[in-house]
Amino acid sequence: MFRDSPGLERERVDSDVMRLYLHIPFCNYACSFCCYAKRVGVSRARMARYVKALIRELDWVEPGTRLNQFFMGGGTPTALPADLLDEVLTAVASRMPYDGTGVHTVETSPESMTDEHLEVLARHGVGRVSMGVQSLSAEVLDTVKRDHGEQLALDTCRRVVAAGMIMNIDLMYGLPGQRHEDFARDFARVAEQGVHAVTAYNLRLNEMTSVQRQLADNERFDLAGLMGWREFVRDTAASHGFTQTRWHTFKRLDSIAARHERLPVAGEDLSAYQLGVGMSARSSLGHTLYRNHSKLNSYMERMEAGESPVQEHIPLNREDLQTQFIARTIGDGKGLSCSAYQRVFGSSFHEDFGPTLERLQGADLLSFDGDHVALSSLGQLVYDLVMLSFYPQHAKDWLRGRMRDYQLLAVEA
Ligand SMILES: C[S@@+](CC[C@H](N)C(=O)[O-])C[C@H]1O[C@@H](n2cnc3c(N)ncnc32)[C@H](O)[C@@H]1O
Ligand code: SF4
Repeated sequence: MFRDSPGLERERVDSDVMRLYLHIPFCNYACSFCCYAKRVGVSRARMARYVKALIRELDWVEPGTRLNQFFMGGGTPTALPADLLDEVLTAVASRMPYDGTGVHTVETSPESMTDEHLEVLARHGVGRVSMGVQSLSAEVLDTVKRDHGEQLALDTCRRVVAAGMIMNIDLMYGLPGQRHEDFARDFARVAEQGVHAVTAYNLRLNEMTSVQRQLADNERFDLAGLMGWREFVRDTAASHGFTQTRWHTFKRLDSIAARHERLPVAGEDLSAYQLGVGMSARSSLGHTLYRNHSKLNSYMERMEAGESPVQEHIPLNREDLQTQFIARTIGDGKGLSCSAYQRVFGSSFHEDFGPTLERLQGADLLSFDGDHVALSSLGQLVYDLVMLSFYPQHAKDWLRGRMRDYQLLAVEA
């Protein structure tokens, strides 16, 4: 839904603190389910050129702006050689002094995390490592084209835990050929290594990924199957002492994982202050979303010419901001306060969304308690689909067209 706007300058926001997202688009292999912006087989020379471009983009930050938290994702940030990773983190520290609030995260994969990388992360105060594993089953890993085995994944878990950082593991469910018992075994094995948190994602389908072809038609959108998986994942995590803190996230709250929270990207007035740097990175500034160029060469050329890397943007209107507000309250599990909604938008939540709320209540997907609206226990199993009901009509129309083409989901009006 982005509008083309090559070279658009990002607006300055009135905030002396920012959250930072850094995108490192390099991977050692291309997983069949992944639609993130990444490149495989890039030479060291091109990676070094990318790092220079990224550092140049950081010059956009007003001197004196403090950093409350960064998240470095990808791709696979540790696919960068350790010295180049060091260069990026040194540049961040010199341009944006850390205000001491949030825990910084860097994503990794089992085969790319060397001892040199761990040393660089520790030296730069990175408190949390999030490692993609997805599955430990050799068959599943082969099917989705991941190039590491169980032993390496478990060894890397232990090394990160021993380095004293919060270790989060990404697991996936609903992958081709994967059974409930495979997931239960994977969870038990990673828990045994002392990991502090597990993020468990259901397989999301996208027309750009090849994994769809590995699924039968009736597996593409199987609502009962998805709900069954979600209940199973929640119960498996609980049986190992992990508490569900967000829909995908399970933490051992008696561990250092309790220190980590993703800091908000916007204040009470919904004005955002998150800068995204790198190829295809998104920034959320004021009431606008921006996305950088998603081609590696074009991104680097723009930065080298001193131009803005932005390629697309979405100005958020009142309806979009309402959707964001609901996503960050009901959609995030905390629930929505009707009086807070009234304060921000100057209108009543029940009046703005009357028919939608009636429909969801009729289907037992929401619960109402005075000022507070939250998902019911049934609604929690389909939180993402409940959220679709709150999207503005133009977004539903766009989604319906896209989904119909790919037969992924029948979106109701
Ligand atoms: C950038 S990757 C994490 C780090 C590293 N690249 C790796 O995969 O080992 C972010 C995570 O997104 C999740 N992911 C990627 N594609 C997905 C999809 N189609 N559906 C659900 N989760 C997905 C995976 O769990 C993956 O670990
Ligand atoms: S899941 Fe991770 S390793 Fe696999 S292609 Fe995506 S970003 Fe790269």
